[in-house]
Amino acid sequence: MRIVFNIGGSVLCPEGIPDMDYVKKLSKLVLGLKRKKHKIIVVTGGGGISRRYIEMARNFKPSEDFLDWIGILGTRMNAMILIASLGEHAYPKVVKNKEDLEHALSSGRIVVMGGTVPKQTTDAVTVAVAELFKADLIIMGTDVDGVYDKDPDRYKNAKLIKRAKVKDLKKIVKTKKHRAKPVEVIDPVAVKLLKHAKIRTIVLNGKKIENIRKAIEGKGFKGTLIGD
Ligand code: UTP
Repeated sequence: MRIVFNIGGSVLCPEGIPDMDYVKKLSKLVLGLKRKKHKIIVVTGGGGISRRYIEMARNFKPSEDFLDWIGILGTRMNAMILIASLGEHAYPKVVKNKEDLEHALSSGRIVVMGGTVPKQTTDAVTVAVAELFKADLIIMGTDVDGVYDKDPDRYKNAKLIKRAKVKDLKKIVKTKKHRAKPVEVIDPVAVKLLKHAKIRTIVLNGKKIENIRKAIEGKGFKGTLIGD
């Protein structure tokens, strides 16, 4: 199977530096999948490193694009840690664009990348790359158990949505205009791309490695399955 992972920065790098225990666990999962002949791309989010640098730079009032570039650099730092952890099984450079991607895929190794251009997050990168890669499955690993009907951090009675159509997501993801470091579980640009791409997508808790394994193996899992 061709699988594209998006590992949210909040999972990989909740504070300013990566969670090394998690990086090791994730690498083990990904390497196991490669041994089973799955083809894999991992897109890493920025998390704490992007957030902190964006917050600091915002004091100087640069443009949103400038702040986005800071965010992108954070995502790429996290990609580099994951590459280091995967060793020779990973393509040794962080993929930055379509040309790099083609080259990296032809190496037959695990491909790791972060952000690409401003005005989006790595969710959108994930969907765009998954389409180019003709992926069978997208796994969006976030810091919550999936897509909720309302923000689970703010509302105790928020309900996990087990299955959602892309058009339902459009109602849940209300933000229309991109701002560096948005708060939605999936970025609105990614939702738009998903509508077009029609790839089986699962949003789940990226920290729960066994649950990710179950989702890939087609067993019962906790999370949200997106598809029309
Ligand atoms: P993330 O993909 O980590 O976004 O990119 P996020 O949703 O804010 O955070 P987590 O990872 O889910 O917690 C971090 C920031 O980098 C910029 C945006 O500002 C984004 O908020 N970015 C990222 C881009 O501008 N373009 C990209 O392709 C990727």
